[in-house]
Amino acid sequence: MAIRGGARNGTSKASAHRLFVPTMLVLVFVTAAALVLYNGSEPVLHPAGIAKTQVGSSHLHAYVARTIRALKSDEDPARAKVEALFKQARDHIALVNAYASHARRAKLDTVKQLTSFTDQASSLNDVLARPQIKALQDDSATVDEEAMRILEKEVKDRIKVIRQLMTDSKELFDNQVKIQKLKDTIFAVNDQLTRAKKQGEFSNLIAARSTPKSLHCLSMRLLEERISNEEKYADTDDAITARRLRDPTLYHYVIFSDNVLGAAVVVNSAVSNAKHPQKHVFHVVTDKMNYWAMKVWFKMSPPNNVSYIDVKSIDDYSFIKPSYVPLLQQLEADNQYRFIKYRIMLKHMRFYLPQMFPKLHKILLLDDDVVVQKDLTALFQMNMEGNVNAAVEICTEYYNHYSHHMNFSHLLIKQKFDPETCAWAYGMNMFDLDLWKKEKCTEEYHYWQNENENQALWKLGSLPPGLITFYKKTKFLDKSWHVLGLGHNPNVGAYKIKKAAVIQYSGNMKPWLDVALNQYRDYWTKYVDYSMVFIQMCNFGH
Ligand SMILES: *[C@@H]1O[C@H](CO)[C@@H](O)[C@H](O)[C@H]1NC(C)=O
Ligand SMILES: *[C@@H]1O[C@H](CO)[C@@H](O)[C@H](O)[C@H]1NC(C)=O
Repeated sequence: MAIRGGARNGTSKASAHRLFVPTMLVLVFVTAAALVLYNGSEPVLHPAGIAKTQVGSSHLHAYVARTIRALKSDEDPARAKVEALFKQARDHIALVNAYASHARRAKLDTVKQLTSFTDQASSLNDVLARPQIKALQDDSATVDEEAMRILEKEVKDRIKVIRQLMTDSKELFDNQVKIQKLKDTIFAVNDQLTRAKKQGEFSNLIAARSTPKSLHCLSMRLLEERISNEEKYADTDDAITARRLRDPTLYHYVIFSDNVLGAAVVVNSAVSNAKHPQKHVFHVVTDKMNYWAMKVWFKMSPPNNVSYIDVKSIDDYSFIKPSYVPLLQQLEADNQYRFIKYRIMLKHMRFYLPQMFPKLHKILLLDDDVVVQKDLTALFQMNMEGNVNAAVEICTEYYNHYSHHMNFSHLLIKQKFDPETCAWAYGMNMFDLDLWKKEKCTEEYHYWQNENENQALWKLGSLPPGLITFYKKTKFLDKSWHVLGLGHNPNVGAYKIKKAAVIQYSGNMKPWLDVALNQYRDYWTKYVDYSMVFIQMCNFGH
């Protein structure tokens, strides 16, 4: 993140960017490949073993010491390693399945690679299904070292083969997949979520949403930094900072993200373009896996003049539990969501803003694929005209009404909503938290989420329940506030982008992936700090 010194918009940016594009092209070549590909020989450390607790309290020191002890103890690293190996194996299963599925779609099924991919998937599945290996998944038991060694060897051997296969078929898939991606029209992600439920498509969802190798490397390096320099990252939040984090007269932002670099770009771009950065407060909410990475990043790379970055994990909010949150209950009931449960939950945390920030009156939600290009103070000062939410509408450019997002054959939906209502976008939303509480929006969301138990009202995703919850409670903003589509639409005008206060890479072609649309990359990379040591270590910059 380019926040230290004056290098922000200067020479380092230009040279860094020259390096960035080719690197990214080499790193990942399809969204499907955007998976965790650990270096087989690299030690893997998995943060899932870290318990989280509330931050900023006097208990912190003791907690930190406990965490470090736990991490250094003989048992927990083994547990962490087992979890990392399982994740690695599952990610590769998803990856080869995604390749196989692309091969099928691209009518390459005569090619021998298709069978090779499916063979590898089933071979890895077989390893995980062995009783001795399966037993490793029980986190309450001590780790069977022998079984762990077998798991490690088997997974590594197979991954070596898979990577070779990928290298061999790179050319073959590259063009096909790019063409396929370009054909994806509006809201590719949403569409993908809808399709995800269908048989055979599920692996695509996981693949598209998994972490590219370099991003994963970044998280791991940051975590390691935290473990080896405990004192440096001890929480020093004083009373003044704590007060500012709750001060309703300041401008508060919330970013839900499991992508350190994405969140860093959002904060950096917002700070860089704010007229009075010291008045802006950023609340970054992540999952357990990425909590320390986020903490360390913002400590190592604090945006100038803004000491107010608050990093929290989902588990810091004790009300997020299945007995209260219908979605969590539904996800836990369905085994296929086991591994992406927290990723989905992170998306739905946005329905709990008043409980998360009880002292605030307003908050601006930013997704982690946006770049802020202007001072946003005016959004906080505008009259919401009695609305809970403010957003840009999306039905004029794209034919996108309520009827496209929910099931109007269902009586409940038909009775309550007008199918011709214009849909709006998530990504940059101002919320009036006082009115939210008064109108009981979270309860409304719960009601509908419960009704949607069998997904008859809408398919997965956070947009449809948002459209429902804030129906007739949404103010439409001028389009120049928020320009969307940079992740799927190759024809967004340069003038429109330059004029926009916030731009969003909505779609699958995220700026940190190889499939990103080249013409839009600079708007994002200019806010990445390539001088940051871990960025260099993780091959973002050379
Ligand atoms: C930080 O704020 C001070 C005073 O508000 C200003 O003089 C200084 O230039 C700012 N620093 C940066 C790097 O923006
Ligand atoms: C939409 O609702 C109708 C009526 O309840 C139901 O029969 C149908 O299966 C639903 N469609 C989907 C795709 O779930």
